Amino acid sequence: MEQAAQIRRMPIELANKIAAGEVVQRPASAVKELLENAIDAGATDISVLIKASGSNLIQVRDNGTGMSSQDAAQCFERHATSKIAQAEDLENIRTLGFRGEALASIAAIAQVSLKTKRQEGTEGTHVRIEGGEVIETSPCATAVGTTINVRNLFFNVPARRSFLKAPTTEFRHISEVFVTCALANPWTAFRLEHEKQEVYRLAGSRAENFLDALRERLRVVLGSKVARHLVRVDEGTSYISASGFLAHPEHARKSRKNQYLFVNGRPIKSPSLNHAIRSAYDAILPEGQKPAYALFLNVDPRNVDVNVHPSKIEVRFDDDRGVYNFIQAICRRALGVAELIPQHPGAVSSLSFQQERSDSSSSWSPPARADELPALHGHQTSIVYEVEPSRLPSGADPKPSGFLWQLQDSYILTQLSNGILVVDQYAAHQRILFENALEDLRSGAGLSQQLLFHHLICLTQQDCQLLRELDPLAKALGFDYSISENRTVTVRGVPSHIRVGAEKELLQSILDGYKESSETELAPLPAEEKMARSLATRGAIQPGVKLSDEEMRTLIDRLFECNEPYRTPGGKPTLIRVTLEELNRRFDQRMVDHGEPDEIIP
Ligand SMILES: Nc1ncnc2c1ncn2[C@@H]1O[C@H](COP(=O)(O)OP(=O)(O)OP(=O)(O)O)[C@@H](O)[C@H]1O
Ligand SMILES: [Mg+2]
Repeated sequence: MEQAAQIRRMPIELANKIAAGEVVQRPASAVKELLENAIDAGATDISVLIKASGSNLIQVRDNGTGMSSQDAAQCFERHATSKIAQAEDLENIRTLGFRGEALASIAAIAQVSLKTKRQEGTEGTHVRIEGGEVIETSPCATAVGTTINVRNLFFNVPARRSFLKAPTTEFRHISEVFVTCALANPWTAFRLEHEKQEVYRLAGSRAENFLDALRERLRVVLGSKVARHLVRVDEGTSYISASGFLAHPEHARKSRKNQYLFVNGRPIKSPSLNHAIRSAYDAILPEGQKPAYALFLNVDPRNVDVNVHPSKIEVRFDDDRGVYNFIQAICRRALGVAELIPQHPGAVSSLSFQQERSDSSSSWSPPARADELPALHGHQTSIVYEVEPSRLPSGADPKPSGFLWQLQDSYILTQLSNGILVVDQYAAHQRILFENALEDLRSGAGLSQQLLFHHLICLTQQDCQLLRELDPLAKALGFDYSISENRTVTVRGVPSHIRVGAEKELLQSILDGYKESSETELAPLPAEEKMARSLATRGAIQPGVKLSDEEMRTLIDRLFECNEPYRTPGGKPTLIRVTLEELNRRFDQRMVDHGEPDEIIP
């Protein structure tokens, strides 16, 4: 006997209710959607009124374009949108909304009232909808723009309602969504009221430049103390541009609060880009501390997919790795220019004194990396750094002092325009060798220095086996050897750039290092990395080795050409910068004596 069919189409209200769960997880998600609709409608004045942390009432009023009565009746239908019309439009999204499901979702799980009027309309439209069912549509008197009241959110989804956190937590989320939207739209006036208390009143900025407008807003959002010490970022390539501000490390916190990241005006969460920014602070922030920032990225919409998640909070770039590198490089450079992290000595001047430098006979070669960004897709365009001449080292001498001193034959000291730099020669050389080795392993073409006298080593059974396994890696690093039947290895060449005197024992010592790192590492590292680390620790100049001026210079130059100049592969610092401020503080002299500028970058 044939069984009755089990599958049936669910009623639209139920489907909407289920789908709503993805878009509206909490009151703050509804606030976000309504604010984004107001921004898409071109509003210049947006007011949000909240009761009971959004579970009783969320009201968003805007002075945007408003809707015709026909659109007002339709806007709550699922997949109803004015923002895209055909598949190709998905490739070129310039609005915050495009899925046509926010209002349908909100209306499926709340009691909603909409009043809206267009500029050219004579009368407005009032729509009431509850649990997805339209209850009333009528003409009404209202101002141009749109006002939406969302009452009793989740009234028909008791499970979701009971999962809401404490009212203060829910309101904190709302406030966060509000502030994020206000930062991205500094020319728009915003107001937030909770339980009849005005929480924010933000006038629309009159500044012409986005960064100036953003800075005004950050002053309110982050407080004037934090805003006084902002580092400005404004850089671009033909693929991506980034502008915004990074906060001074002293304002870092344990939480992620005050980390704002946007792509094409859309707030996003990206652990990977967070990491890129945080890594720029590595040398100056202890672990667990998170810097504050507001960074706006702009990319051609064709190169970024914003349709990764219904809440549109995640994006994917077609060159994720390139974007990561770009962000890391520009943040490092911005912090370096602001002298918050050590840069190649003289790098600050070099950014502003291109002309002079080319005439200069200084033996400091221009920093190779400091002026270069990873050129995404090969085209690097404008790099804008606004360093006021008055902020540059006095006398605007493009040449750094050139002074170098080796302390205890272990540390190299050099002068920066605002302090001193202490480089640990062993740690620095490890970093250089490590990155070189990785590069050689990748390209398979490590340079070899041939030994005048071949060196013979006798390996144990186990080491011999290991060397055979690692043979391609060892050869790629620049080792040149052969293994005989009786486990004797004739070493004819070793990787170049290793310390003088290390040649003899190097191969054996690398095998030992490789085994050690296999035993001690918590997370297993790829063989290449273990090999590179082993070469770095065994082949680097040891403490206690006297270096010539030229060697010290080369070491510093090459350190600053590294991708991660501040740490050894094992995570130890390679350098420390002692600022004048710190010296003054230690000697208990007040900053005023030195006329420290208030802000780091204008
Ligand atoms: N505040 C508003 N002012 C003017 N029109 C609005 C407003 N809010 C919504 N609309 C209209 O209603 C439509 C549906 O809004 P809804 O938020 O549901 O979808 P969307 O914004 O197009 O896409 P998404 O679901 O991604 O937000 C919008 O496309 C827009 O035309
Ligand atoms: Mg929308």
